[in-house]
Amino acid sequence: LKGEYDHFLLKEIFEQPAAVSRAMGEGGRLLHDFGTAKLGGLNLDKRDFFDIERIHVLAMGTGYYAGCVGGAMIEHLARIPVQVFDASEYRVSNPIVKRDTLYLAISQSGETADTILAVKEVQNKGGRVLGIVNVVGSTLARLTEGGVYTHAGPEKSVASTKAFTSQVTVMALLALLLGRMRDVPVRRGKELVDAMMALPDRIHETLGLRDRIKEIAEKYKGYGSMLFMGRGNYYPIALEGALKLKEISYIHAEGFSSGGLKHGPLALISPDMPSLFIAMDGDFLDKDIGNIQEVRAREGKVIVLTDSDDPRLEDLASDIIKIPATDEVLAPILAVVPLQLFAYYVSLALGREIDQPRNLAKSVTVE
Ligand code: M6R
Repeated sequence: LKGEYDHFLLKEIFEQPAAVSRAMGEGGRLLHDFGTAKLGGLNLDKRDFFDIERIHVLAMGTGYYAGCVGGAMIEHLARIPVQVFDASEYRVSNPIVKRDTLYLAISQSGETADTILAVKEVQNKGGRVLGIVNVVGSTLARLTEGGVYTHAGPEKSVASTKAFTSQVTVMALLALLLGRMRDVPVRRGKELVDAMMALPDRIHETLGLRDRIKEIAEKYKGYGSMLFMGRGNYYPIALEGALKLKEISYIHAEGFSSGGLKHGPLALISPDMPSLFIAMDGDFLDKDIGNIQEVRAREGKVIVLTDSDDPRLEDLASDIIKIPATDEVLAPILAVVPLQLFAYYVSLALGREIDQPRNLAKSVTVE
């Protein structure tokens, strides 16, 4: 039931503090004193983790982007190389399956045909696959050797929101666990545990930006196309923001890496082509500001999404969305929330179907 909300999508966006908390087992999947995570369902002896040389993630759509964000968290904390694959492509690529590779399938429904077939291809070649799945008892949950339920609760809207943040949260738990088995010291582990425990509150604060985001969405609803840019672990967030907008508003949207701007997309910039830049505090903020200047110099409107107080951003932005700060590893989980709200309010202003966009099904059970 939608309750006080007009659409399931808005309800599910607002359920994210609770969903992310459930993904952390309400804290039960975190061991504060040891600064690590505990994942019961992996069905792997801890010693098996020492033998993992690489991780391959298999997923589609929003699950794929969750894999990209979470995979980078694993690389950052555990220094294990992670590759993320479009499962439909993986399955047709005659993949090289190896004993020292851990395979992870990410799926909200657990019924996505492309992901199921990629998993079967790996299993038929002797690979071990774990699932990060939301629907308990689904095909993928049963097929995989072990895994972690995201426990986001039922997701009814075709556009995935709380499943995404829950998937990334589970990947962050895995990154912490693997990281602490390798180089991450207990002190850094504890810092991350604290930041994860505080994440539901930070998401709640971010949701408090809804009225501001609604105003911005109404200004941008009339454009035929829009670009989303991000750098590092905000690049897959930009791709997810673009997917959300096109899926429910039918406005053409594309995501690019901010660094890729000059390699082609800059040619698209004009007063009729707005962009949304994710420009977060950190080592590369100056680079992001340089990119935004390039776009503004060509009269492109720019919505800036940031957690930084840098006054240059205020000056440059056509519109600015300021989100709370959190640990830099977890910040992409916060950054996606305004993009979900933006897509929702643009679609609302355009009178779209929102929960049931044309041509799409909630789970794609055929290839
Ligand atoms: O159920 P799954 O997570 O396996 O679904 C994968 C994609 O079909 C899904 O994420 C799709 O891209 C969403 N509708 C995006 O919002």
